Amino acid sequence: MKIFIDSADINEIKSLNDTGLIDGVTTNPSLIAKSGLNFIDAIEKICKIVDGPVSAEVTATDADTMILEGKKLSKIASNVVIKVPLTVDGLKACKNFSNENIKVNVTLCFSAAQAILAAKAGATYISPFIGRLDDIGADGINLISEIVDIYDLHDFKTEVLAASIRSVQDIVDSAKLGVHVATIPPKILQSMYDHPLTDKGLSTFLKDWEKTGQSIL
Ligand code: G3P
Repeated sequence: MKIFIDSADINEIKSLNDTGLIDGVTTNPSLIAKSGLNFIDAIEKICKIVDGPVSAEVTATDADTMILEGKKLSKIASNVVIKVPLTVDGLKACKNFSNENIKVNVTLCFSAAQAILAAKAGATYISPFIGRLDDIGADGINLISEIVDIYDLHDFKTEVLAASIRSVQDIVDSAKLGVHVATIPPKILQSMYDHPLTDKGLSTFLKDWEKTGQSIL
C-alpha cells in the first residue's frame, strides 16, 4: 500500500518526505487555502520535494474549463496528477485526460456507483471519502470494501485511494481491504508510529544498557 500525504504544508511535506516512506501527495482547494500559498507555486514546490504523484485539483465546474485548467496544471511537473470532482463534467474531463495519458484522481466519491463510473472514465485513482461518510452516520470503510470488491471482480485498473482519513484505525482497516493508496493527514501519519509499549520498552532497554557501561561506537 502506498502512503500519500494529504497536505499542502510545504514544511510538513518536506519533513515527512525525509522519512523515505512517502509515495506521493494529495492537495485540494481547502488545503491550498489553509496553506496561504499561491496554488501554482505550492504545486511546483511540492513536486520538487516529492518524486511520486502530486494531486492538484481543478476548480472549474464545466468540463471544457476543467480540461484547460488540468492541462495548465499538468505542465507544472511530470508528476502532477489532475484531480477532478465526481460530477458529470468531472468524468467527461477525466475521460479526456485519460485519452491523452494524463493521470487523473477522481475525488469526492461517496458511493460504489460513482466509483464504477470513474473507473469507466479511465481514472487513475478513485478517492472515496471515509471520514465525511462517517460524519453523517454512514459507513466509510464499507464503501472502501464495496469499491475494492467491484474493481477486483471487473478487473478495473483504477487504484483505490482511501481519503478523508480521520484515524489510524481508518488506515489499518483500509489496508486490510487492499486499498492501493491511503492519503493521510500529517498528524495522523505521525501517530502511526506511536505505541505506549514501544516507549516503555525502549526506556527499559536504555536503562539496562546504561548499567552495562558499554558503548557501541
Ligand atoms: O483530500 C481529500 C480528503 O482527504 C479530504 O479529507 O478530512 O477534509 O474530509 P477531509
